[in-house]
Amino acid sequence: MITKEQKQELISEAAKALAFSYSPYSHYQVGCAVLLADGEIVSGCNVENASFGATVCAERVAIWKAVSEGHKKFVAAAVATKKGWYPCGMCLQVMAEFMNDVPVLIVDQDQNVTETSFKSLFPNSFSPKNF
Ligand code: THU
Repeated sequence: MITKEQKQELISEAAKALAFSYSPYSHYQVGCAVLLADGEIVSGCNVENASFGATVCAERVAIWKAVSEGHKKFVAAAVATKKGWYPCGMCLQVMAEFMNDVPVLIVDQDQNVTETSFKSLFPNSFSPKNF
């Protein structure tokens, strides 16, 4: 369970991260914030590259930042884009490694929020449970 205040903070951190998006090629800005079990929030934005394949999505930046700082328990995520789009398949796969059925908040530029869950976005994920 996450509190209303935590949700609000997660949404605003995702929106803040979007503003740091480095996306000179697609001009598609994405921000992501993840809430960790200890209450900390870590955020990330998409970082593009002139060699397009080297681009990393916002969700993966946020998750990898958190994991590389010693965190492995994720309790919620928020993803902000202009039109409230959903995470790509590659990010869902990375989320599957660390998230079970956590709430995922999809945020648009007017801060409209669609609340879904990781499980409904990726119901039969290939994940650590397969090992
Ligand atoms: N992007 C993300 O950051 N997250 C997603 O889930 C989908 C796509 C980024 C990658 C690239 O910089 C831009 O959006 C267009 O694909």
